[in-house]
Amino acid sequence: MDKGKFISFEGIEGVGKSTTILEVEKFLKKNNIQVYCTREPGGTELGEKIRDLLLKNESTIPVDSELLLFFAIRYQHIKEIIEPKLNMGTWILCDRFIDASMAYQGHGKKADLKKVELLIENFTNKIVPDLTFFFNLPYELSKERFPKSKTKDRFENLDDQFFEDVYLGYLEILKNNPNRIKNIDSKKNKEEVLKQITDIIQSHFKI
Ligand code: TYD
Repeated sequence: MDKGKFISFEGIEGVGKSTTILEVEKFLKKNNIQVYCTREPGGTELGEKIRDLLLKNESTIPVDSELLLFFAIRYQHIKEIIEPKLNMGTWILCDRFIDASMAYQGHGKKADLKKVELLIENFTNKIVPDLTFFFNLPYELSKERFPKSKTKDRFENLDDQFFEDVYLGYLEILKNNPNRIKNIDSKKNKEEVLKQITDIIQSHFKI
């Protein structure tokens, strides 16, 4: 049996990743592809518990602890969900993966980028997404879309400079991985964003 394909979705907050992923799932199912949606941090029982600790405003976490926790979640996710499902031929749609650690902990929180690379190299069982969609929306615009009523988590409470750095970090990661990561113009409306993605999936995987 052919292995499934692994697609990750990246970008800063408020760019519309989560709703688009559900539409991509529908699109794949219409093409008779078995698909599983998941997210990071989270995806497993252990991961969801650590996620709560990571996002809670009361937690004080040095950046290297944070980095290790994201990778602990990720390794569990890979072993328990991602790898077995890919081996069964299921396609995985994952809301954030390795690039988020590079962008948020590396570029945003200034963790040593070499440490992030070392973790990617050694603690992902060599699982790299077949395709990654970067929802490209400058921070100023994404901020406008953020619901004013929503209670902010430990990341969303960080300052403008942090999100600027994360955004610029993503642009750098995009530049360094032109084959894997596809830029999605997220200034467009929902339908156009979805079309950019499904067109790329169709031509990349010949479905
Ligand atoms: P979440 O509510 O899932 O954010 P979003 O809906 O925008 O994806 O919260 C996840 C937060 O964790 C988000 O602010 C990004 C951050 N994060 C990292 O800092 N490093 C990582 O490796 C991952 C996967 C997420």
